[in-house]
Parts: sequence; C-alpha cells; structure tokens
Amino acid sequence: MSRRTLRWITVVVPTAFVVVFELVTRSLYDDFVPAWGHTVVILAAVSTAAFAFSTFVFTSMARLEREIRERNRRLALLNAVATEASESLDLEEVAAAITRNVRQALAASAAGLALVSEEEGGELRLVAHSGLPSQVTHANGSLGPYDCECSRALALGQTVVIADSRESEGCAGVLGERTPGTCITAPIRSKGNNIGAIFVARPRSRPFDHDEAELVAAVASQVGAVLQNAQLFSKTGAIAVLQERQRVAREVHDGLAQTLGYLNVQMGIVDHRLANEEWAKAQAELEAMAHVTREAYHDLRQSITDLRTPLSPGGSLRRALREHLERFSAQTGIPCTFEGHKGTPAMLSPSAEVQLIRIVQEALTNVKKHSSGAQVWLNVEANDRHVRVVIRDDGPGFDPAGVPKSGRFGLQTMKERAESTGGSLVIDSRPGAGTRLEVTVPVEASKAA
Ligand SMILES: Nc1ncnc2c1ncn2[C@@H]1O[C@H](COP(=O)(O)OP(=O)(O)OP(=O)(O)O)[C@@H](O)[C@H]1O
Ligand SMILES: [Mg+2]
Repeated sequence: MSRRTLRWITVVVPTAFVVVFELVTRSLYDDFVPAWGHTVVILAAVSTAAFAFSTFVFTSMARLEREIRERNRRLALLNAVATEASESLDLEEVAAAITRNVRQALAASAAGLALVSEEEGGELRLVAHSGLPSQVTHANGSLGPYDCECSRALALGQTVVIADSRESEGCAGVLGERTPGTCITAPIRSKGNNIGAIFVARPRSRPFDHDEAELVAAVASQVGAVLQNAQLFSKTGAIAVLQERQRVAREVHDGLAQTLGYLNVQMGIVDHRLANEEWAKAQAELEAMAHVTREAYHDLRQSITDLRTPLSPGGSLRRALREHLERFSAQTGIPCTFEGHKGTPAMLSPSAEVQLIRIVQEALTNVKKHSSGAQVWLNVEANDRHVRVVIRDDGPGFDPAGVPKSGRFGLQTMKERAESTGGSLVIDSRPGAGTRLEVTVPVEASKAA
C-alpha cells in the first residue's frame, strides 16, 4: 500500500465512521439527535484533525526514514573503507581505497589523502588523490601551498569546512582556477599522533551539509590505525630489503669476490710455471684452483638456495624451515632431522619470519663450514607468546667466549637479527660437546618490530 493511499485512509476512515455513526444514531433515536447542521461541523472538525495528525505522523516518518538512509549510507561507506583498507598492507593501495570510497560516497569532484612524512620533518605528502588538478599535486608528492587546509585541520585537531575555496589560500584552485569549490578536511590521528588528513571538494553550487562533514570525520577517525599499520609495514619491509641487500653484498664479497681474486693470482702463478716448464708444479696449482672453484660453486649454490627459501607472509614458517633443511641436507650431504613443530602455528610478522629464517640459514652454513661430519637436528615450538627454534649439531663444538671479535660476522649478525625482533639468541657450545643454538622471538613484539 502506497504512502498516499495510507494518508487518504487516515482522513477518510474517521470521517466515514462519524457519518455511519450519525446515520445509525438518527435511525434509532431520531427524537434526541440535533439537526444536520451540527453534524456537518463535527465532520469538518474530525476531518481537519485527522488530516493534521496524519500530516504530522507522515512528516516525522519521512524525517526518520531520511535519517536512517543517511546512517545506512554512512555505515556502508565505513564498512567499504574498512573492508578495502584491511585487504592490503600496501600504504598507497590503502590510501587510494579510502580516497576513492569517500569521493564516491559524497559524489565529490575531488578527494585526497595526505600523510605526515617522518623523513621530511613532518611535511605533508599527498599519498593518494583523485580528481585534483595538477597545481595541487606536485610530482614529488609534497602538498606545497595548496594543502587544502590539511595543516590547519591537524593543528586544530578538528574538521575544517570551507564554504568557498576562493576564501582560503590553501583551498584556492582545488577544482581548478575556474571552478570555485567547497571543501571538507578532517585530521587523521592514531594513538594520539597526527598521521595526516583527508579532504574532499565539490563545486560551490553543491555545498556539503553537516551530515557529510560528520561522515568525513568518521572515516578519518576510523582509518588512522589502518594507515599507521601500513606505514609501519612499509618501513619494516624496507629495512628487511636493506638487510637482505647487505647480506647478499657481504656474501658476494666474502665468497665470490675472494675466490675470483685468488684464481686471478693463481693463474699468473700457473702461467709463470708453464713458461718455466715446471709441469708438475703447474699441475698441482691447477688442482688447487679446481678445488677452490668447486667449493665456490657449492657456496654459490647454497647462497642461491638461501635466497630462494620462500619468505611468503602468511605462509607456514614450519614448512619453509623444513623444506630449507631438506634442501640443505640434499646439497651438502649432511644428515639433518626436522624434529617437528610443537604447540600452536607460528604467528609472526613477515619481517620477524625473515629474520628467523636467516638465522637458521646462517646456523646451517656454520655447521657446513666448521662442523664437518656432524649431524643436525632442528625443532620449532610455538605458543601465543613466542616462537622458539632450536638448531643442534654433534660436531666439534667451540668456545663462544673465544670467538675473535673481528672478521667473524655470522654469530654476531644472528644475535642482532634475533634482537631486532625483540627476541634473543642463546649459544650453547663447548669444545667436544657439539653446538646448540636457541632463537626465541616473542609474538607481540615481533608484530611491532
Ligand atoms: N656449529 C659450529 N660448530 C663448530 N664451530 C662453530 C659453529 N658455529 C660457529 N663456530 C665457530 O664460531 C666461529 C664464529 O662463527 P661465525 O659464524 O661468527 O663466523 P664464521 O662462520 O667464521 O665467518 P662468517 O663471518 O662468514 O660467518 C667460527 O669461526 C667457528 O670457529
Ligand atoms: Mg658463520
């Protein structure tokens, strides 16, 4: 039934009731009922009252309906922003999803999201934008003078609404020189810190209302934590990449570069021996060179295996470690036993997983280098507080206190890697008693690392 029909019913039904009541009363008690004129007055009064009442009820219903629709729109936007933003940890993707959703929900002509850059002394950098003219978006990402009042919103800690962009230096030209705009800018904060700001702009002919300003503020207050997580993730990702590069550079320097240098010198010597017809000595040098080349080849293959060990975020740490151990064993011929995984699945951050796997790789490399003829055992144990990996070998062992401070990087780097995750490395070894390394990474601290 349509609202119009309902409205008619609310007026016609009381009126019809009065008419029927009047007719029945008149037919039964004609002598007592006053003349018809009185009835007409009552009818007019009843119809007017019914009309006024229904107008009041239906206007209230329409207002409530508008409010519910607005609330649903707001919830749908917040939901869309939360869903899309949580699907990725890539800072630019997250910022782009937020900007796109806000622009669509407000049918805005332009929107942008700027973040406070730590490296550049707190300068605001535009991380995502859509529909903005080029004078607002600099190639280097800095916002410059047209900051759409982001700095002011952050300084005030509240939403800033500009009714006419020509009245604000920061918003002038937000929709191009020719189109005067109107903007809303809301600060984004997380854990009490200023993260950045989000702004939307429309032509002045379609001003934003109070609900829309509140909607932008609600989005801004919801996305602070998500953006901060993505920022932290990209930072730890960059650190992990840097560490990997340093490791590869060191491996190339210590391994391949040294070997090539040695072979170069040896070739000169062999050349000299051949010129002097010292065949036996030349052959001995060549055999030594062949041995070193073979060693270098194996080391290089080992490095490639290490680099190819999957470090996929969300993948199983247990599987990555077991597969690496199996490959190591197949390549080196060292008997290795994966003793299994006790407790819950290991839930570490991707960067902590990288550190843990690199520690295990260095421990195995040490077994190969310093513990010939040994066997290796590896086990993993995890609970909701920490992940612990133990690597044991029954090789010759060594005195940890006697390791020279310079020229030995492996154990030191392993320690630093464990500590960078908030965890620790315990080295237990004695000459003649094998070596046991225990790495512990706390789950919570690793997520903040
Ligand atoms: N599993 C092991 N068994 C026996 N000795 C070991 C073992 N691990 C380490 N060591 C001893 O500890 C020393 C220091 O190890 P570390 O990994 O720091 O340096 P490295 O392996 O000699 O050189 P690199 O800097 O290439 O790692 C080694 O030189 C070796 O004497
Ligand atoms: Mg080493």
